Amino acid sequence: MLRHYAIVPAAGSGSRFGGETPKQYQSLAGRPLIYYSLAALCRCQRVDRVWVVLSPDDRWWRQYDWTSLGHKLESVYCGGGSRSESVANGLRAAATAAHDDDWVLVHDAARPCLSQASLLALCDELADDPVGGILAVPVADTLKRADWQRRVARTESRDGLWQAQTPQMFRYGLLKRVLAEHPDGTDEASAVEAAGLSPRLVRGDASNFKVTYPADLLLAEQILQGKTRVDQ
Ligand code: CTP
Ligand code: MG
Repeated sequence: MLRHYAIVPAAGSGSRFGGETPKQYQSLAGRPLIYYSLAALCRCQRVDRVWVVLSPDDRWWRQYDWTSLGHKLESVYCGGGSRSESVANGLRAAATAAHDDDWVLVHDAARPCLSQASLLALCDELADDPVGGILAVPVADTLKRADWQRRVARTESRDGLWQAQTPQMFRYGLLKRVLAEHPDGTDEASAVEAAGLSPRLVRGDASNFKVTYPADLLLAEQILQGKTRVDQ
């Protein structure tokens, strides 16, 4: 039977967020931010196991009790110097369980507002897909190209442009191969694209945004508080 496994890269330092504590451990509604990203995956019945990829020097993870997330969760201290390396190392850790045809969902630790509806839509819409795909949202804002003085050089068309999110879902064997061959992308889909394949875009929603700057925490908190009423 085909399985769905999740890899959560969580070995970044959060340089744009700043501060002593890495972004994924910043406090959000009383828990570390990463808790919500993991909880969304752990409570989804389609997902069989979740590997969280930590930095080898991580000293925050063990300060929390994760038992409420259940038996699916496994932590591995094999994060690398880039997101892509962390994911590749996570895939290696999953090798004991995963087969080449199993699905792998890679989800940023820094996206705490992933809804069950989007997660299920991703799994359902890609169930028979030969390539796999990603959650994404059509670009809503008007796009400006800046010149060297940070003045508008021109307005770019947003036709057909989507913002990539996570989870990004590909078969284990494919993902392992393309990340080894094309490790320079900022997401899994770009490695798949570099191998000549076209990932599907599955429409998600804007609330699954990535916490990048301190001000993003407030928005995430508001979304989570609203979501608690809808989702549970
Ligand atoms: N990540 C990782 N290993 C790295 C770099 C990033 O596992 N070497 C993870 C982050 O922990 C995060 C996800 O990849 O969950 C998305 O990365 P990003 O939002 O860019 O986080 P950081 O790299 O930590 O932040 P910044 O780019 O601002 O330094
Ligand atoms: Mg980064």
